[in-house]
Parts: sequence; C-alpha cells; structure tokens
Amino acid sequence: MSPHILVVGGTGMLSGLVEALAGDGGRLSLLSRQASKAAGQGGFDCDYHDTEAFAAALRAAVERSGPINLAIAWFHTLKIAAPRLLAEQVSGRLFQVLGSATADPGHPDRLARAASVAADLPACRLRQVVLGFKLIDGDARWLTNAEISQGVLDAVSADRALTILGQVEPWSARP
Ligand SMILES: NC(=O)c1ccc[n+]([C@@H]2O[C@H](COP(=O)([O-])OP(=O)(O)OC[C@H]3O[C@@H](n4cnc5c(N)ncnc54)[C@H](OP(=O)(O)O)[C@@H]3O)[C@@H](O)[C@H]2O)c1
Repeated sequence: MSPHILVVGGTGMLSGLVEALAGDGGRLSLLSRQASKAAGQGGFDCDYHDTEAFAAALRAAVERSGPINLAIAWFHTLKIAAPRLLAEQVSGRLFQVLGSATADPGHPDRLARAASVAADLPACRLRQVVLGFKLIDGDARWLTNAEISQGVLDAVSADRALTILGQVEPWSARP
C-alpha cells in the first residue's frame, strides 16, 4: 500500500510540494484552515491554535488513510500543542519546516528546542528543514515558494537530519 503522507500548511508556499505528491497518486492528507478547498476529501479543515480541532482533524485523517508514514509540517509557531500532537501520530518521518529565525546565531538553542516536539517518541523520526535566503552578487532575497517546495521535496528524498535551503550565513547578509 502507498504511504500515508500528511502535510500541515500545504496550501501556501508548500502548495507546489503538495501538487507533486498528489501527482504520485498516494494517500495524501492536508491539514489547514481551508485544506478541503485544496484537497477535497483529503483535506481536513482546522486551525492549529485550536488544540481540540487539530486533534480531531488528525484523528479523521488517520481514520481515513491509516497511520502517518511521512509528515511535512509548517507551523508559524511551535509554542502550541499541535506540533507535539502531530509527532505523537507519526510512525515514520516528520519533516519540520522552520523559518530562518531558527538559524539565528544569537539563539543557538532554537533547533534543539524545535526538535523537542518529537522527544521520547521512538516511532517519530525527526528531520528539520530550515528556510534560508539567497545571496547572489551581493543581493540577498528570500526563497520563492517554488524554491521552498522543491527544496523540501529534495530534503525528503535526501533524508538528512538537517537541511538548510539556500543559506543562513553570513547571518548579517539576510534580506
Ligand atoms: N526564509 C524564507 O525564505 C521564508 C521563510 C518563511 C516564509 N517565507 C515566505 O513567506 C511567505 C509567507 O509565509 P506564510 O507562512 O505566511 O504563508 P504560506 O506558507 O504561504 O501559508 C501558510 C500555510 O499555513 C496554513 N496556516 C496558516 N495559519 C494556520 C492556522 N492557524 N491553522 C492551520 N493552518 C494555518 C495556511 O493554510 P490556510 O490558510 O488554509 O489555513 C497555509 O497553508 C511564504 O510565501 C514564503 O515565500 C520565506
């Protein structure tokens, strides 16, 4: 059977990734406030700040498509219950997509703090993808949505513990 892939926040900058995964014809679930508009029956509408609603959406996705083999998650904050609830449901790999601030050298503990959502969950194998920036001929810019989607897809294939998309050094050069 094809793996159950669940994406949190897949209707924005990760929509290209979702389109590519949908093209593979597997069991795909999308969780976001307007996920059902993008994914029909595979979409589970919920606000991840609403713990009960997020837990119910996760349960519904698992009831429909079985245990989550691969999760890709973009949360604006990890200081909510949802990231841990998701990690508890993953039997396979969980890719955390993290904003550039995670790589701020002034806060060297941020990556480890982000990883703690999967602490003591042996079934959940955590991977981290940090969104950086591009510096070309002295001009810095943020990544485009297409670069982010393709970069996260590549990170899933490469399966490294940590992937930096673009660059985060020198930190002072960011846009
Ligand atoms: N380093 C970088 O280059 C970098 C880093 C971060 C962001 N960015 C850029 O910044 C832009 C904006 O990022 P963004 O995160 O605001 O937009 P986004 O990825 O385009 O959209 C956020 C995603 O999260 C979902 N979402 C948002 N709030 C939610 C909530 N409370 N509950 C459930 N799902 C929620 C949205 O879906 P629903 O609307 O359906 O809920 C959507 O799928 C991106 O387009 C990207 O290009 C760049």
